[in-house]
Formats: sequence, C-alpha cells, structure tokens
Amino acid sequence: MRSLKNILVTGGCGFIGCNFIRVMLKKTSDFTGRIINLDALTYAGNPESLSDIESEFGNTRYFFEHGDICDRPLVESLFRKYNIDTVVHFAAESHVDRSIHGPEAFIVTNVMGTFTLLDIARNIWKNSGGTMRDDVLFHHISTDEVYGSLGESGYFTETTAYDPRSPYSSSKASSDHLVSAYYHTYGLPVTISNCSNNYGPYQFPEKLIPLMILNMLEGKPLPVYGDGKNIRDWLYVEDHNSAVWAILKNGRNGERYNIGGENEWENIALLYELIAIVSKKTGIDAEKIRGTITFVRDRPGHDRRYAIDCSRVKCDLGWKQSVSFEAGLNKTVDWYLSNSEWVDRIRSGEYKKWVEKNYSQRV
Ligand code: NAD
Ligand code: DAU
Repeated sequence: MRSLKNILVTGGCGFIGCNFIRVMLKKTSDFTGRIINLDALTYAGNPESLSDIESEFGNTRYFFEHGDICDRPLVESLFRKYNIDTVVHFAAESHVDRSIHGPEAFIVTNVMGTFTLLDIARNIWKNSGGTMRDDVLFHHISTDEVYGSLGESGYFTETTAYDPRSPYSSSKASSDHLVSAYYHTYGLPVTISNCSNNYGPYQFPEKLIPLMILNMLEGKPLPVYGDGKNIRDWLYVEDHNSAVWAILKNGRNGERYNIGGENEWENIALLYELIAIVSKKTGIDAEKIRGTITFVRDRPGHDRRYAIDCSRVKCDLGWKQSVSFEAGLNKTVDWYLSNSEWVDRIRSGEYKKWVEKNYSQRV
C-alpha cells in the first residue's frame, strides 16, 4: 500500500507542476499529505504562480525548496528532512525549439537530473535489511514525443517503439529508459506517464497556445511553422494531473501509461479557433487578426503528427478527460486576459524580486 504522505514534486513552479500542486491541495479530497516543491527557478519557473497556495498551506502542507535536481547533497537532505515517500518528477527543460538552439541544458537536467533523483531514491528507500520499501513510488512525467512522428493514421500505444527526433525528446527518452532500468535492476517502485500537448493557465508564453493568444492581444505577427498542418493532440492541464493522481494511487509498479486528449488539431485550424475566441472576448476584429498569420521557416526535424491511444489509463484506472477543448480554450484565454502582470513578470524575470522578498534566506 503506497504511503502518499510526503510527496516531493520537482519542477512545481513550472506550468504543469504548479497546476498539479494547486489541484492536489485544493481539490483532491482523498489526498491529505504534504507537498515539497523542489524547483531551480529557471526562466520557466515562477513561484508566484503558487502564492495563493503558499498563503493557505505554506509550512503546513506546502513547502518550497529552491534548488537543482542535479544537486545530490541537497536532494538527499530533502529526502531525509521531509521523509519523502513519493516523487512526482516534472522538472525538465521542456521546449523543443530551445533544445535545438542549446541542447546541453536538456541533457544535464533531463538525463543527469533524473539519474540523480533515481539514484538517491534507490539508496534511501531501503528497509533496514536492504530490501526495497513497498510503500514508496517514483512517478516520472514524460511525453508522447519519445515515440517520434506519426503519418496520417495510427496512434502511439504504450508498446510503440521509441523514436525521438529532437534533442528534447531524446533527452526525455533517455530519462524514461533510466527509470525503467531502476525498476528492473534495483526493484525501485516506478511508474511513467507519456502525455500529449497540455494547455491551460500558467504556461510560459513560448509554447504555441499562450504565445498566439498574447501575440493577438499585442497585435504582433502569429508565426506558423512550415505549412501549419502539423497535428497535435491537446489536453487541458488539469486532466493530465487527474490522470497522474490516478496513477499515483492505483498505477501498477513498472507500468507505463499514455495520457492524451483524443483531440487532434492541425496547428492552423487550432489557430483559427483561438482567433475566434479572442476576437469574441476582446472585440478585436477577427479578420484583422487573421491578417497577422505569418508562415515562417519550419522547425528542423518538426514531428508531423502526434496521436495518443490512452485506453490503458482509461480501462485500468478509470480515468477520463473532463474538460472539452472549447471550454478549456475559453478558460485559458480568460486566464491570460486577466493575468497580464504574471505574463509581464515571467517574461522579464521580474518575479525573481518576489522570490528574494519571500525566500531571501534561500536565494
Ligand atoms: P516548464 O518548462 O513549464 O517547467 C519546468 C519546471 O522545471 C520549471 O519550474 C523549472 O524551473 C524547473 N526546472 C528546470 N530545470 C530544473 C532543475 N535542474 N532542477 C529543478 N527544477 C528545474 O515545463 P512543463 O510544461 O510544466 O512540463 C513539465 C513536465 O511535463 C516536463 O517533464 C515535460 O517534459 C513534461 N510534459 C510536458 C508537456 C507539455 O505540453 N507542456 C506534455 C507532456 C509532458
Ligand atoms: O507532445 C508533448 C510536448 O508538447 C511536450 O513534451 C513539450 O514539453 C511541449 O513543449 C509540447 O511540444 P510541442 O513542440 O508540440 O509544443 P509547441 O507549443 O512548441 O508547438 C506546438 C506546435 O505548434 C508544433 O507543431 C510547432 C508549432 N508552432 C509552435 C510555436 C511555438 C508554431 O507553428 N509556431 C510557434 O511559434
């Protein structure tokens, strides 16, 4: 029986991690434990995204620790200080375009960082006789990009062969293999989830949906890569996180679960949907926004199509998506319309002042 009392969340100040922590502490009635959020606060991590959580749960059920997952002495000390029994590992360099321009950080954090966490978990999670505890779990958050690129038909299943094609996806594939290796070699209790494209509040505006929303509001060009016909499968971030909670509770040790929206869109068609929503909410003329669409040079190695078969997590764990694409896009546009200060601060790194004020002893 898993303990799920003291959860170490890595990368909890990023997009999916901060939504996970909020949902766990505010909406998940069958979670009564503590969350320890370890985040290095790269350009993508903003602790201010959790200021409401800090006020309500700080130093009782929520603890923020500023640091790097590659820092072995620090991570070991946190395992002991908080008696960690579960790891939910979100921390990563996550943007494909950045991995093309500068792959090294992806290898360091995604590969070496994951290795460091796994190695510490296997050393610390031992009974006095040397056997592995059975009330612990290392859950690794991964991506559908490890499976490569699909043609017009077919779906990624959990047995699809890995075929990563960018430095980002190959670093994630490497980390997935390390997680599996620690299960098979050392008996570390692990689960892995491979999810499709997430969208929702608090996403750094370099990713397609927030970038396009903000460019529309600011009257900037909307850069579409290549012919705009690449396909992604979109999932609202809270639905991803409810699947992660289902896996933490009932996922089988050593198992991999695909998570997806069953919601495929060509980029250009998605952009037209977004334009209609933004135009309706702001009164900006839709035709005028459409005029700013600019086809630009394609991303090198641009995967053509992702599509997820998520029947395992649905059938075995009873999970399903709960937010329709229309409702999710509306919520997302509303959030960016009313959080321009958050946007300004994360873009400029201004939030670091907030960190200094609130965490001066650790920065
Ligand atoms: P993000 O870039 O928004 O956030 C990453 C977080 O990790 C940031 O808070 C950052 O400060 C932190 N971080 C980075 N390097 C660190 C290090 N060395 N030590 C400690 N913290 C560090 O990413 P995201 O979009 O929230 O993605 C989270 C996870 O989900 C990643 O593992 C990603 O591969 C995976 N994923 C993302 C998507 C998506 O659509 N965004 C889909 C599937 C899987
Ligand atoms: O599939 C899961 C993955 O989804 C995650 O593992 C990654 O962390 C996450 O970043 C995301 O990767 P993508 O490369 O699919 O997301 P991105 O938002 O960068 O791009 C989505 C699509 O839009 C892709 O086909 C590229 C295209 N695009 C993107 C940007 C930023 C554009 O046409 N123009 C743009 O300006």
